[in-house]
Amino acid sequence: MSRVNPGPVGALKIAPSLLSADFGHLSQAATSVDQEVDWLHLDVMDGHFVPNITIGPPVVASLRQHSERFFDCHLMISEPRRYLEAFAQAGADSCTVHVEVPDAARALADARALGMRAGLAANPDTPFEALEPHLGDLDLVLIMSVFPGFGGQSFMPEVLEKVTLVRRAVEDGGLLVDVEIDGGIDLATAPRAVAAGANVLVAGSAIFGRPDPPAAARALRDAAGSLS
Ligand code: DX5
Ligand code: ZN
Repeated sequence: MSRVNPGPVGALKIAPSLLSADFGHLSQAATSVDQEVDWLHLDVMDGHFVPNITIGPPVVASLRQHSERFFDCHLMISEPRRYLEAFAQAGADSCTVHVEVPDAARALADARALGMRAGLAANPDTPFEALEPHLGDLDLVLIMSVFPGFGGQSFMPEVLEKVTLVRRAVEDGGLLVDVEIDGGIDLATAPRAVAAGANVLVAGSAIFGRPDPPAAARALRDAAGSLS
């Protein structure tokens, strides 16, 4: 399966999270913002790693028929290695696994072997040091700015320091790695995240919770770009 081009590494990217969309009309939600956004962020939850259950490979495969955006799949699941092949076949362009799960390093290698980009996510209370050994073996680092599981939570500013540590390590190492932030990103917090070093902004409620999602995505890009 051919993958969608993710765009230049390090460039500002807006990645709306469909978690805040109407799950009865997911494809309409995806296509409504298609022209305004860079990636689509798909939140996969298993009811075990996080206390919520969302979507899996069949939904990704269905959405793939409706969108040509880069599919950035965030796997909040305890056993990602069991499902990576199914996500690759469904049309995922990238799979991000959590560093808190056993075998995260092998999952990164599996994702790449399947032709996808490989991302590693860290919960708010997971230190930079847990990510550091993997930075040469991945394409994306995802810093959670809320505890994963639900949309609409408040941004945790204390994670910005970790964003800066990741950005510095990426620059110092000359690594081709995107730095993504996820949770509570809105017009006020987006510029702070970008100033700290994030270049991929995930936003759920600040886009799909607004009456005009394409306009909200545009406003977020403008807000983020104003300080970068
Ligand atoms: C939370 C998910 C997020 C979520 C963000 O566990 O990983 O992607 O949808 O939602 P907001 O932007 O509303 O915090
Ligand atoms: Zn997410």
